Amino acid sequence: MISIKVPATSANMGSGFDSIGIAFTLSNEVRMEESDQTEITCVTGHDVPKDDSNLIYQCAKKVYDICGKPLKGLKIEEYCNIPQTRGLGSSSACTVAGLLGANELLGRPMNEQNIIDLAASIEGHPDNVAPAILGGFVAALQEYGKVWHVRVPIYGRLDFVVFVPHFELKTEKARAALPKTIPHADAVFNLARAALLAGSLVTGDLSNIGVAVGDRLHQPYRFALIPGGQEIMQAAKGLGALGAYISGAGPSIVAIVDSSDKTYLMRAQMYCESNFPDWKPMLLRCDERGAVVEHIS
Ligand code: HSE
Repeated sequence: MISIKVPATSANMGSGFDSIGIAFTLSNEVRMEESDQTEITCVTGHDVPKDDSNLIYQCAKKVYDICGKPLKGLKIEEYCNIPQTRGLGSSSACTVAGLLGANELLGRPMNEQNIIDLAASIEGHPDNVAPAILGGFVAALQEYGKVWHVRVPIYGRLDFVVFVPHFELKTEKARAALPKTIPHADAVFNLARAALLAGSLVTGDLSNIGVAVGDRLHQPYRFALIPGGQEIMQAAKGLGALGAYISGAGPSIVAIVDSSDKTYLMRAQMYCESNFPDWKPMLLRCDERGAVVEHIS
């Protein structure tokens, strides 16, 4: 039996639409072995597809097909800790787990770059899957099927308080809300900020974070789908965060907090209890390990 642990991820980080993401210290685990028939269970009791429409199964099967290996079936056990459809990379975690698990069962015919390229092709963009595999803060793009990426460790300098609402938002719906074209000035607005964000995280210049997560490409169009989102974002900053942004396609909001601020989470909880009791703040850190594959029996 193989165990694959894959971290939650937060894509975009405001300015880096479809190109920047970070791994968080919260992970899903998938256990997998070959079997005569496919049997899928979710140990944590979440509602996941139990047939061959299951994303983990489909991604595993893709690896078998690419490698020209027959697959009778897979026994898959899922442990889902990442909130689903909340902009925290739960579907990327399934994609990555399926690919890495099958690759391990086949004796690792694919290298890490092959897995990243395939995962990004399946997801359509690399900003969740690259940090899910590599850990850390990752800037990435995919061109002609290959993902070009750079990973920056955060070394515990930052905390991430994630405000998770009770409602879900499907990525397709959040992408459908975006305009087909954007003004040149908005492209420049984001380009400058994404570069500043990456550079600031490399150098540790945290004073730039607030302006560097600013965005005109997706967040302004998505707030209409996130009731309370704008208020939470303002409050997250007002409570003392360095910056705040919509996590991935939403609906969760992430506050980037200097890790020396030990009471931010408590202040965030008190704010939500009084104003938005259906939003739950959760303290996470940057996961520096990325996906971990182990043989457990
Ligand atoms: N970059 C993507 C988006 C992340 O914002 O739509 C969603 O997975």
